[in-house]
Amino acid sequence: MQNRIATALGFANIAFVKYWGVRDAALNLALNDSISMNLSDATTVTTVEFGPLAEDTLAIDDQPANAAQTARVSRHLDHLRALAGVSLRARVVSRNSFPMGTGLASSAAGFAALTVAGAAALGLDLAERELSAVARLGSGSACRSVPGGFTRWHAGRDHASSYAETIAPPDYWDLRDVLAVVSTEHKAVGSAEGHTLAQTSPFLGARLADLPRRLARVQDALLARDLPMLGEELEAEAIALHVLAMTSRPSILYWEPATLEIMRLCPVWRAAGLLAYFTLDAGPNVHLICEAATVPGLLERLQALPSVQRVIVNGPAGPTHLLP
Ligand code: DP6
Repeated sequence: MQNRIATALGFANIAFVKYWGVRDAALNLALNDSISMNLSDATTVTTVEFGPLAEDTLAIDDQPANAAQTARVSRHLDHLRALAGVSLRARVVSRNSFPMGTGLASSAAGFAALTVAGAAALGLDLAERELSAVARLGSGSACRSVPGGFTRWHAGRDHASSYAETIAPPDYWDLRDVLAVVSTEHKAVGSAEGHTLAQTSPFLGARLADLPRRLARVQDALLARDLPMLGEELEAEAIALHVLAMTSRPSILYWEPATLEIMRLCPVWRAAGLLAYFTLDAGPNVHLICEAATVPGLLERLQALPSVQRVIVNGPAGPTHLLP
């Protein structure tokens, strides 16, 4: 083996159809397919260097990571070590474009970058779909950050069949994700717990029954570049995700007053000619999806709201890739 070091850049993603609920929590096998867009300005750069070390080490944003974070990364590297047939330990150095612990840094970008860098450092020649499946083991949504542009995660039946692929390249549609940050608190209930709790919501069955229709509409809207069609499904999907969370036992309520304020303003702004639609992840911050020309008008309105702490604008991004 020559160089045992590699660096990769991963992008976070925003889901248009969400992953919420696991069939197999050990393998992160989702209950349903999901569709997302990679985000140009939410990135993680990770260097993995294998060597004669006693244990794996992890630094995030120039600070030594805590034991739980290091153990999660170490477990992830175990999958790659098993594929390469080696037991070498690694030094992992990761930097986010946003500070960790603010609710903004994403494990999707992190695990996509870790997978691509780790595989390259071990000299593994994996196809994109294999890299995507491995990334999924670290964080479900990370599988969608491995391929570029607009991607679809096929829920699949087992490890090998549960991966994401591109349905349209990043330059297919000049969409923007205007992220209104209303809270940077660490979320009280993480996604992993939320996926398990989803099974306790009486509405899970209704959501899953409707998803084939929604997935088809969202994919068709993307391919037709039809924003009103996409937007209608986006908003209904975001509400469906949060209804599942709120009706789980125990209930998870991610919204802040400012979340609802922006959700309510969205149709008002549309009536005034700003074509933007909201979506939400498992947290209170609001993502507004629009075309590039709508961004200046939205920024003006968002920045006038006292509850908005900062606004981050993302365009569609390419695949997670190695850096020289
Ligand atoms: C609501 O388990 O992939 O964002 O906590 O980042 O590992 P991490 O998240 P993950 O769940 C993502 C849940 C979601 C919807 C989505 O991205 O599909």
